[in-house]
Amino acid sequence: MRLVSRFNPLDVRKDFPFFEKGLVYLDTAATAQKPKAVLESMTECYVEHNANVHRGVYALAQEATDLYEGARKRVAKFINASSGEIVFVRNATEAINLVAQSWGRANISKGDVILVTVMEHHSNIVPWQMLAKSAGASLEFVPVSKDGLLDMDAARLSLRKKPKLFAFTHVSNVLGAVNPAKELIALAHREGVPVLLDASQSVPHVRLDVGELGVDFLVFSGHKLYGPHIGVLYAKRSLLEAMEPVLGGGDMIKEVALSHSTWNDAPWKFEAGTPNVSGAVGLAAAMDYLDALGFDAIASHEKDIMDYALEGLDSLGCVAIYGPRDRVGVISFNFGDMHAHDVSSVLDESGVCVRSGHHCAQPLMGELKIPACARMSFGVYTTRSDIDRAMEALRKAKVVFGL
Ligand code: ALA
Repeated sequence: MRLVSRFNPLDVRKDFPFFEKGLVYLDTAATAQKPKAVLESMTECYVEHNANVHRGVYALAQEATDLYEGARKRVAKFINASSGEIVFVRNATEAINLVAQSWGRANISKGDVILVTVMEHHSNIVPWQMLAKSAGASLEFVPVSKDGLLDMDAARLSLRKKPKLFAFTHVSNVLGAVNPAKELIALAHREGVPVLLDASQSVPHVRLDVGELGVDFLVFSGHKLYGPHIGVLYAKRSLLEAMEPVLGGGDMIKEVALSHSTWNDAPWKFEAGTPNVSGAVGLAAAMDYLDALGFDAIASHEKDIMDYALEGLDSLGCVAIYGPRDRVGVISFNFGDMHAHDVSSVLDESGVCVRSGHHCAQPLMGELKIPACARMSFGVYTTRSDIDRAMEALRKAKVVFGL
């Protein structure tokens, strides 16, 4: 397994077999490509240590269990939690649904308010709408200001009304705006309001520390963190202990009788059935990989790419960019009067992959008064020459479409 000790984008790039395809991949916010270290760790897991976990007493089964539980410890260390506070799920969406259906059903009732923001991904709106519908509660939304930032005055006012929960994204998957998580969590806690932070778009870019944030629930997806398709729910130990499981089955029980069953301890009571062992192992390898690069180096590289791309888009003269200048990860834009899907298709013809559409954020699209936009997003492997290729394709399109 090769780890990069000093950050050099061209060296980093060599760690990702995907780039042998020659594509310019600017859709890392949707899913990140995987370094060899992640792929190798998963292959090794299947070739050398494949057995079910928490079941067999033979040596191989114990190895598999140690690998899986070791991965949980690694994830915990990555966000400064303890391993008993880490639940493995399918993705961030499932993590939010777990909180809504477990903690939410026990704590949200008729007349209660769940506070979210207008800039949320659908995955941090719809589970709360489903809960609100069944509980007789309602949702309130913190608006976004004209400059694409969360309206902090409105957030303060809404929090003073003591909603039952405040669920918000750390970084918008459309605007790239970084919400002041620590400040918002402190404001919420001052009013006795627990907080769920959706870190899906921040965890690949900034170092997260749940102890420092003081957050109650935090969710993210492994596949956006250069790892496999697995998700993580962090919750404070006392919350997890009080919560009921949502899925029933093997491994989540202490005892099963014909009349009733009792639950395993947290976090296992939330992991019914055979878990995604290779996914957990791959995610741990992704975390090793990123830690070896170093988050300071990652941030400074990605800022250089972001500034370079913003300048490039500005220089085209027909681009509307959404969100604040100071941002991470993504640039959402419209190009003249072209539909975002056409922009994506034009770029695709030049081998440049960008996402287009509403980005699973239709309420935000409504606020921005646009049906759709194109979005470039960046990661540790993005280079200035990727941006040059995208700009070249857009310059050609500008001439062809007379923009
Ligand atoms: N949530 C992912 C995105 O924003 C899929 O593209």
